[in-house]
Amino acid sequence: MLEQIQQTAQYIQSKIQSFQPTVGIILGSGLGGLVKEIEVKYTIPYSEIPHFPQSTVQGHKGQLIIGYLAEKPVLAMQGRFHYYEGYDMKQITFPVRVMKQLGIEKLIVSNAAGGMNPEFQLGELMIIKDHINFFPSNPLIGKNYDELGPRFLDMSEAYCKEYRDLAKQIAEKHTIRVKEGVYMGVSGPCFETPAEYRCFWRMGADAVGMSTVPEVIVARHGGMKVFGMSIITDLGIEGHVENVSHEEVLKVATAQEPKMSLIVKELVRIIG
Ligand code: HPA
Repeated sequence: MLEQIQQTAQYIQSKIQSFQPTVGIILGSGLGGLVKEIEVKYTIPYSEIPHFPQSTVQGHKGQLIIGYLAEKPVLAMQGRFHYYEGYDMKQITFPVRVMKQLGIEKLIVSNAAGGMNPEFQLGELMIIKDHINFFPSNPLIGKNYDELGPRFLDMSEAYCKEYRDLAKQIAEKHTIRVKEGVYMGVSGPCFETPAEYRCFWRMGADAVGMSTVPEVIVARHGGMKVFGMSIITDLGIEGHVENVSHEEVLKVATAQEPKMSLIVKELVRIIG
């Protein structure tokens, strides 16, 4: 694995020459619009990158976008890998290992999620305060490479408090409504049954989705600071669970995306 990480990082570095991104960004379902804000220097399709998995989901493009966001050098993944596509946890998180190898110390992740918190409205923006790993696995299972991080990883502040506070300030300044909450990561690909939404809410989660948790675990393993945000694209509130489809998720995410993009952009301006 170490060799593959190095080979992939070397390949990307050779493509971007002396460009040094400081922030990595993983763009989720329908949230690719942030790319419009990036002054693109380099685009690298995943299909050209050695050892990179390929994205298979509609609405997820598969390429790296490297350039400037708010005048800060960033590397963005347009399209991510999901457990339900059949990849294992190490494949899903491989790009985060590569980011770290490239010298990136900060990671921003976004996703679409179903909301269980009864205070949530459709289209709500949620700053991820913490997560519950409800995937049937963990990307750190197996041999630990001490060069990459510790065997037993502290997760007491997986989502950087300083970044969360900055994001709240940015939202307030731009009069954007945001909530903070706990994200439950599940394998999918089924959306939840009403009983599952109720169960997850009672377990302490505000929202549920099929991504993010593996990448965040690996980012923390590598000592990266993390900021995460969800768009609540459907509601699984007790007594009000409605039919949900991938199309509906994409529609709501796309409508709310400009607000999230603004928060991410202004956060990068400060932390990048
Ligand atoms: N459940 C799981 N994943 C999701 C949902 C949901 O309700 N909405 C968007 N991604």
